[in-house]
Amino acid sequence: MRVIIEKTAAQAELRTARIMADMIRSKPQAVLGLATGGTPVNVYQELVRQHQEEDLDFSGIKTFNLDEYVGLGPKHPQSFRFFMQENLFDHVNIDPAQTHVPDGRALDFDGHCRHYEQRIAEAGGIDLQLLGIGVDGHIAFNEPGSSLGSRTRLKTLAGETIRQNEKYFPEGEQVPRLALTMGVGTILESRSCLLLATGSHKASAIRSMVEGPVTAQITASALQLHREVTVIVDEAAGGWLERRDYYADVEACHQLLETGQLRALGIGN
Ligand code: F6R
Repeated sequence: MRVIIEKTAAQAELRTARIMADMIRSKPQAVLGLATGGTPVNVYQELVRQHQEEDLDFSGIKTFNLDEYVGLGPKHPQSFRFFMQENLFDHVNIDPAQTHVPDGRALDFDGHCRHYEQRIAEAGGIDLQLLGIGVDGHIAFNEPGSSLGSRTRLKTLAGETIRQNEKYFPEGEQVPRLALTMGVGTILESRSCLLLATGSHKASAIRSMVEGPVTAQITASALQLHREVTVIVDEAAGGWLERRDYYADVEACHQLLETGQLRALGIGN
């Protein structure tokens, strides 16, 4: 796990967007896994800016979103499909047929989820999966206790998640209690994962995910088993990490290697 601690949320978001843009530039037919929620909003804004001002080309890109609320159609302003249209898809040159979000109106939950997995497989698997993290340590909507081998399926949201998401719904409107979500096993099959977390309310979850034991009680901790994970946090979200000096050291060494400053690393002295 590579842990990058940026000073501010804006810097963490920019770094995340740059990694995604690099993937799009280096692999124009890339398959991206996408997340919703408050965390990635500015990441998508930066990708839109790069499309408009720097010709970032989405024409060959395929996307698969992590999850969707059950009961919400694409026109519902709180649906994740609506979020993706508003924040990214409507502003870049992506082929709408190549954007996939689980259908919140599907009633054959199992059939729809199986089909979703099949579409990911047919696309050749996910190259880069963007993730956020819940305050209870969930990735996608894999709530504490979810199997670490789970696949896309129907999931009951935890009370804490419903409370956290209330802020996105108009007052008095009920937050859905069910979601369709990629499983932890599905996420672990992505070729690389990029998790972004900002704000002190994520500090505990980030510490458990990075430095705690691998446990189904913190489903994000399963990422410790993945070979290609980058975690980007701001100082607030990384504030509880015990080994943050070491992570900063790793980044400093990376920087020296990338810029060819080998003598500073004791190579060739
Ligand atoms: C969203 C998702 C969730 C969120 C997480 C954090 O597609 O899968 O796991 O990433 O709940 O949400 P925010 O960013 O709103 O704090």
